[in-house]
Amino acid sequence: SNPVPPSRVSDESFPGGKVRLNVLTLLRERFRRAVPEGVDPESFTRAIRESGSDKFGDYQANGCMAAAKTAGVNPRDLAAAVAQRVDLAPLANPPEVAGPGFLNITLTTPFLAETLKHRLVSGRLLDDCPGTPQTIIVDFSSPNVAKPMHVGHLRSTVIGDALARIFEALGHKVWRDNHLGDWGAQFGMILWGYRHLRDPIAYAKNPVRELARLYRKVNDLSKPAEELGEKLDKVLKMLDEGRRDEAARLVLKLFDGRETPTPEEVAKLSKRIASRLRVLQEKVAHARAVTEATRRETAKLHAGDPENRRLWNEFMPHCLRALEAVYRRLDIRFDTQLGESFFDPMLADVVADLQAKGLAVESEGALAVFNEGANAPFLIRKRDGAYNYATTDLATIKHRVETYHPDRVLYVVDHRQSDHFKQLFATARRWGYDTVDLVHVSFGTILGRDGRPYKTRAGDVVGLESLLDEAVAQARKVVEENSPDLKPAEKAKVARIVGLGAVKYADLSQNRTSDYKFDLDKMTAMNGNTATYLQYAYARNRSIFRKGGVDPAKFAKKAGSIELIFNHPAERGLAVKLVRYPEAVELAAAELKPNILTDYLFQLATTYSSFFEECPVLKAESDERRDSRLALCELTARTLKAGLGLLGIGTAERL
Ligand code: ARG
Repeated sequence: SNPVPPSRVSDESFPGGKVRLNVLTLLRERFRRAVPEGVDPESFTRAIRESGSDKFGDYQANGCMAAAKTAGVNPRDLAAAVAQRVDLAPLANPPEVAGPGFLNITLTTPFLAETLKHRLVSGRLLDDCPGTPQTIIVDFSSPNVAKPMHVGHLRSTVIGDALARIFEALGHKVWRDNHLGDWGAQFGMILWGYRHLRDPIAYAKNPVRELARLYRKVNDLSKPAEELGEKLDKVLKMLDEGRRDEAARLVLKLFDGRETPTPEEVAKLSKRIASRLRVLQEKVAHARAVTEATRRETAKLHAGDPENRRLWNEFMPHCLRALEAVYRRLDIRFDTQLGESFFDPMLADVVADLQAKGLAVESEGALAVFNEGANAPFLIRKRDGAYNYATTDLATIKHRVETYHPDRVLYVVDHRQSDHFKQLFATARRWGYDTVDLVHVSFGTILGRDGRPYKTRAGDVVGLESLLDEAVAQARKVVEENSPDLKPAEKAKVARIVGLGAVKYADLSQNRTSDYKFDLDKMTAMNGNTATYLQYAYARNRSIFRKGGVDPAKFAKKAGSIELIFNHPAERGLAVKLVRYPEAVELAAAELKPNILTDYLFQLATTYSSFFEECPVLKAESDERRDSRLALCELTARTLKAGLGLLGIGTAERL
């Protein structure tokens, strides 16, 4: 039975009478007060963490070794001294000194029971706001509009959304901004395409699709300018030097993909190489002309050309509608969607200000900021007078600071832009925006199963919509197999939850800085670290309540009078895992790593699964035990659901 009355646990363990759900924080506070003089409390408390094995208790304080070295004392003596001084009651038993100077900490049963009961009854799983609430802007998704969203947009969208949800849940003020690329070169491309290649009937019927087709068409027409142009220059140079056969060999290699041509092939091409090159040259010349024409359209748009502005205004709602469809499907929302165009009128002033402050200087006709340690100038005005990505981002910082007064801005953008952000942040600091914390939340590339950037068989980027369709179709198979009796509409709904969850989870469960392989089969596997596994654990859990005729909400209400019993090691193991939820969420936030949360949820689900195997719930030996186990089940379900919710992933009652 429970020797410590609930009130005592709450009052003593939660300073200020405020209930604290993060047990690690509570332990750290106790130790902070107990470290002897000469030991840095910060690094000591930071070294308190979940222990690697049950053998070493629930938590370990590992700071004695480092601290003893600094102080020149014996680590075991120091550990013994800290153990003597620290008062962990009623949270944990007095710590045990182990090994070279570890302190092993084991939570008390009454504390475990009361903490979990409090969560059940209050319905709260996280602390209100650990630390000072911040205003955090999350700049995420931010696709370049006017071209269809592709697989590359997935990561920023999913990671940014998860971080926003996590910070919000921890009580911070989060502002979600979709910094749309709505002012770039792609508009010159569709403007030119619209004028020269438009299919009026197709445009009238489905403007979004026709604009996407135009974008692809113009891209195909202008792309050879750079790619082919470079190859061609190499061949021409060889010809100039009279190396005819070599030039022929290069043509075969670069344009026909023939690495080891036969001597006959080489000889044959060598004879008529001039005519072959003429064809290629024409193609390049045409591509250059198209590129130049689209560039002029962009410049005209920026300069305020009325017709291009009118068309831009006509195109934008169509582009936005296409994006919104994807966001709705993924359950993503934004507070603002200002986009680059919004900042256009501010760019001249930004540049003038940077010039007046002596930060921007002329460099080969362009205007640039030179930052210490950077290997290139940071261009803010091109030679032709055009402002660029950097100028817009600087204007955006000024606007955000003046409008929202953020403590932090998170830019969720892939790793290829890390130089840009280094330069941007350095420039912003020198410009005077030195109190806001600007962070590039960088991530790696999505690869195909072959380990190369994910492309369709034809070599195109994979459209996001079709990818999501595929995921839902794959999930439908899983649902058909597992729950053949569900009604078709229910199956479709569950397939959406499972398919989209699988895609999101696969992304979030990676260490975000690494690349990962996109593999739908693995993502929807019922076993392993997948959303499907967690969703399945959740659904199975719900089925216990259905089978037992227990209403979870009603059950939770009376949970205050239930006594939690941890006699079986699997019960205690699950209880300790459950207790750690706030730690995982707070750590994921602190390190900006959603995969800390996915790892935790996966561990929770596997711990729950061993509990479920070893401890009968509905058929428990007594009513008391049954209720205690049901309480653990209910809390597991809530924690899984809430945790997945923070990742933007849904759950289904049946799966
Ligand atoms: N539109 C950009 C791209 O597609 C990403 C924008 C990220 N946000 C920013 N403030 N620069 O590459």
